[in-house]
Order: sequence, then structure tokens, then C-alpha cells
Amino acid sequence: MYPTKIKINESIFLSPLEMEDAERIVFCLNDIQVSQWMAEVPYPYFIEDAKAFILRGTNQENSTEVVFAIRNNENELVGVVRFIDILEQKARINYWIANPYWGKGIMAEVIKKVCDFGIQELMLSRIYGHVLVENLRAARVLEKCGFTCEGMFKKSVKKNEKFFDCKLYALVVEKIN
Ligand SMILES: CC(C)(COP(=O)(O)OP(=O)(O)OC[C@H]1O[C@@H](n2cnc3c(N)ncnc32)[C@H](O)[C@@H]1OP(=O)(O)O)[C@@H](O)C(=O)NCCC(=O)NCCS
Repeated sequence: MYPTKIKINESIFLSPLEMEDAERIVFCLNDIQVSQWMAEVPYPYFIEDAKAFILRGTNQENSTEVVFAIRNNENELVGVVRFIDILEQKARINYWIANPYWGKGIMAEVIKKVCDFGIQELMLSRIYGHVLVENLRAARVLEKCGFTCEGMFKKSVKKNEKFFDCKLYALVVEKIN
């Protein structure tokens, strides 16, 4: 059910994660510009963190998670997009891309294609994402992909022993029963 490759544009594609990606993930997630917005990502980020993440994401028995590496033309991992907590046709989307790739419209294209995949292949009827309120860039990406803001949750995300407000964004497939 998991395609080996999804083309995003001439220089970016999605494919399954591999254990060889561990060092690249460590490198990318030790950038505080990326990490500061990711509630579930520790900082500093160690090779053991990456290996555990890859093992979980590639475990075929794990039906609650589908993970894609975002890769450049050199087959180098430059980001990750994933569905987590897949349950009853609903899933949470989680995503990041390395800083040099920001602002080129890449993540909007990635999320649109991954949501098409989720709706068609995983039969998802609701895809939602939590965004820290200060993360205007991440919110804008979801809006560009047709997500709408359903509300704000005060002090709902804990990171580094501090609590943050977050917004809930969702994409709902209307043509379901
Ligand atoms: C959020 C993130 C995925 C965006 O990726 P990206 O490829 O740069 O996104 P895009 O280029 O498709 O779109 C970015 C949009 O944000 C807008 N933007 C950039 N800075 C902004 C700001 N300070 N305020 C509001 N909008 C902003 C851009 O103008 C663009 O919108 P536009 O196309 O309408 O002009 C990337 O910055 C990232 O990985 N951040 C760190 C991790 C993260 O935040 N993940 C999401 C967790 S919920």
C-alpha cells in the first residue's frame, strides 16, 4: 500500500525511510531553526533518536504510522513527512524540511501530494495537524493545502518543560458517509 516513490517536482521526491538516513536526520534536526517548532523532537538530537524513529516508521506491523523521506536529486534526505495516529480514517500530519529548502513552495507541494495519497490509498477522511501559534510558516503551508483552522488550544503542547498554545488545522473530505 506504500508507493516506493512519489514525484514532487523535478528535484524533489518522496520515498520510504531507510536506516541509512539516520545521520542525515540527526544533522537536520540538530538545527534549532527546525527543531524549535517540533514538539516531539528532542534537542540535541542523537543518532539513537534517529534510529528509533526510523525503526518505528518502517515497522510494517505499525499500521498507525506512514512515514516518507523527502529527498533531493542526489537521493539525500532533506525532510520528513508522516501520518501518525492513523485510526478510523483519521490521521495527524507531521512534517519538516531542512532550512536551506525553506520558502521555495516545496512543503506545500509535498503536503498536497501526501494528502492525496492518504485520502486515496489510506482512505483517510480527516487529516489534522497541530501547529504552535507562533509558527506562522507552518500554519500558512497548511492553509495553502486547503486545511482550515478549527481552534486554538491553550498551553496544550509541552516542550523543554514549557507549555505552548497551539492551533488545530484540519482537512476534511466532505464526500464521506
Ligand atoms: C514549516 C515548513 C515545513 C515550511 O516549509 P516550506 O517549504 O518553506 O513551505 P512553503 O515554501 O511551501 O510555504 C511557506 C509559506 O509561509 C510563508 N511564510 C514564510 N515566513 C512567514 C512568516 N514569518 N509569517 C507568515 N508566513 C510566512 C511563505 O511566504 C509561504 O507562503 P506563500 O507561498 O503564500 O508566500 C518549514 O519551514 C519547516 O520545516 N519548519 C520547521 C519545522 C516545522 O515547523 N514543522 C511543522 C510543525 S507543525
